Amino acid sequence: MKNVKAIIFDAYGTLFDVNSAAEKCKDKIGDKWEGFANYWRTTQLEYTWLRSLMKRHKNFWQITEDSLDKSMNAFNIDKSMRNELLDLYKTLNTFPEVRNVLNKLKEKNYKLAILSNGTPSLLNELVKSNNIENIFDDIFSIEDVGVYKPDSRVYDIPTKKYQLQKNEVAFLSANTWDVSGGGNYGYHAIWVNRNNNIFDNLDYKAKNEVKNLNHLLDII
Ligand code: LAC
Repeated sequence: MKNVKAIIFDAYGTLFDVNSAAEKCKDKIGDKWEGFANYWRTTQLEYTWLRSLMKRHKNFWQITEDSLDKSMNAFNIDKSMRNELLDLYKTLNTFPEVRNVLNKLKEKNYKLAILSNGTPSLLNELVKSNNIENIFDDIFSIEDVGVYKPDSRVYDIPTKKYQLQKNEVAFLSANTWDVSGGGNYGYHAIWVNRNNNIFDNLDYKAKNEVKNLNHLLDII
């Protein structure tokens, strides 16, 4: 990590708990809430990749709605829950350690930024509702390039803005495919493996693996 001058975070799944919207409705949804939350997330990501390949971009909010509709159908969830789930998605919680670690990093001499599929307004609302809006130098959205991760044009956004070599950027994601995407691009990519998952076979091995962001403080 000696060369690193900027620390860039993925948002959904890395800083913000994407399952927390469905979890808050688990009394109404019942035991299937977690399967439903995972299906929604997987469908949402598939739509980002498919739309990028089809060159038919829609923003992340529209994709979140489209994937929710398919998932509610698949899991027979009452249509009356749609607005509640979408409202909760706008104010997802951070994982517990995130704010404290970001505040500690802020005292060090790194550029700190988010690089996410989310729209600028979604990301701004998320950082505000979690009280971390003053931490970041930048919140980069793929809307600047109109194509989703892992297209290299996305990973170019911070290196261009900060005029850095690719390996001067540490990129953290809990999404294995995003670690592979950023790593193959040339970032020093770090896998936040919160749930003991299995890594991908996509020609990249994470430079570091951490259980949560607390462990990032040990390796910088
Ligand atoms: C993001 C998705 C990949 O925030 O979680 O970009």
